[in-house]
Amino acid sequence: MGVVSNLVVGLLFNVLLIYAVPLSTVNSIHLPSIGRFWHISDLHLDPSYHVTDDHTKVCFSSKGVPASNPGLFGDFMCDSPYQLILSAFQHMKQVAPQPEFMIWTGDSPPHVPAGELSTDVVIQVISNMTQTIREFFPDMLVYPALGNHDYWPQDQLPTSTNDIYQAAAKLWEPWLKPEALVTLREGGFYSQMVQPKLRLISLNTILYYSPNEVTVNMSDPAGQFRWLQDTLEASAQSMEKVIVIAHVPVGYLPFARNTTAVREAYNERLVKIFRDYSDIISGHFYGHTHRDSIMVLQDQQGEPVNSLFVTPAVTPIKSAEEPYSNNPAFRMYHYDPQDYRLLDIWQYYLNLTEANQEKRSDWKLEYVMTEAFGLKDIQPDSLFKLVLSFKMQQSKAFQKYFSHFMVSYDDTIVCDGACKLTQVCAVQSLDHASYSKCIEKGH
Ligand SMILES: *[C@@H]1O[C@H](CO)[C@@H](O)[C@H](O)[C@H]1NC(C)=O
Ligand SMILES: *[C@@H]1O[C@H](CO)[C@@H](O)[C@H](O)[C@H]1NC(C)=O
Ligand SMILES: *[C@@H]1O[C@H](CO)[C@@H](O)[C@H](O)[C@H]1NC(C)=O
Ligand SMILES: *[C@@H]1O[C@H](CO)[C@@H](O)[C@H](O)[C@H]1NC(C)=O
Ligand SMILES: [Zn+2]
Ligand SMILES: [Zn+2]
Repeated sequence: MGVVSNLVVGLLFNVLLIYAVPLSTVNSIHLPSIGRFWHISDLHLDPSYHVTDDHTKVCFSSKGVPASNPGLFGDFMCDSPYQLILSAFQHMKQVAPQPEFMIWTGDSPPHVPAGELSTDVVIQVISNMTQTIREFFPDMLVYPALGNHDYWPQDQLPTSTNDIYQAAAKLWEPWLKPEALVTLREGGFYSQMVQPKLRLISLNTILYYSPNEVTVNMSDPAGQFRWLQDTLEASAQSMEKVIVIAHVPVGYLPFARNTTAVREAYNERLVKIFRDYSDIISGHFYGHTHRDSIMVLQDQQGEPVNSLFVTPAVTPIKSAEEPYSNNPAFRMYHYDPQDYRLLDIWQYYLNLTEANQEKRSDWKLEYVMTEAFGLKDIQPDSLFKLVLSFKMQQSKAFQKYFSHFMVSYDDTIVCDGACKLTQVCAVQSLDHASYSKCIEKGH
């Protein structure tokens, strides 16, 4: 190597440097940066969790069923040990110390018989989770929605003020504005501006949840439909975009044929309102099923108009009869900060078996939605094309979707035939008429 080649290398190096600096400066000024927010759900803290030789005594939430392989970070028969929840927040903080905000779609207390809990215990658990989040993210705004377990007795969320709505309003005061706290205290729902021209609506869908006996035969529990309609109408007038969050999702359950999570009449009503305002709704975000799924709302002409997402749970719990579960999970959404279009999902998970074996929590990226399925973004058109590809025989895309459904819990479980039809119809048909047609046609 002579002087000349050294000189050439040196020159090249300089040229690269000269271009590298201004290019990156230009990028940060002219290319739209990406907005990001976290979504966590179904933490289900079980304070009784402890590893012990008698596997029937590991956690109250297994209800006497032996834990399968209990370790530091939990067990598939149990709700979350505190250690699992801490490890999730630690990882979130490492990945993105300062995202725009977080949504938290409820269910903090464990799955235990009503006698093990009380109004006070439920409030304590919600308070514990709220404080834990605030310790990890003191400067971040968090937008919660109440879950069916965030009440005692579970599922029976009332249509007027009570100790729990009031406690939640007090605990969430650092995050919510006074107007939001007013409706939260009265009915467990609220709306708030979260970015310029972006409004978040947090619905209390437990008022519509089938096991809620308080609201049987009510046409508009807590006046929430009226309020939702009015809030969306005002947003449309003000040229705002809206994101809808709630615990129990609309639509049909992906794992139970012909079953909506909310009562069918309420589901029809919600779907109609969402169709009417689909052009201002950027996306819907739910929890409750503990599994990872999507839905695409179509208008009456069959055009895809809204994307809906159900995030998998942090808790890995499964019941004894269930064939499958989920690894602990949380996710981040990417959006365009100019028009609030949703761009992508970054889904994270903990391989619980591995974490317990190694006695350390190595949270990993499970998938990036656009990369996993070759999509441009996660807009309704893109998701609709994806659903069409699911319908092919032996669809690789569907197999991947189904593996994600359980957060990579078990790739040997096959879903085809009736199982696949139930899944696919739940993705594309949210109202009774289109769902029945989907099942009848067989795709
Ligand atoms: C939350 O609960 C866990 C488990 O019972 C306990 O260790 C922790 O100290 C509690 N944290 C707060 C902030 O209450
Ligand atoms: C609801 O309405 C049905 C039909 O009118 C009636 O039979 C039932 O008793 C009502 N239930 C309650 C809890 O009001
Ligand atoms: C689905 O459920 C609804 C309400 O429970 C019922 O009216 C309908 O007949 C059911 N359809 C099928 C195909 O089972
Ligand atoms: C999780 O870890 C177990 C044990 O190491 C391994 O057998 C399994 O394949 C892993 N699952 C995934 C999705 O990586
Ligand atoms: Zn739950
Ligand atoms: Zn739930």
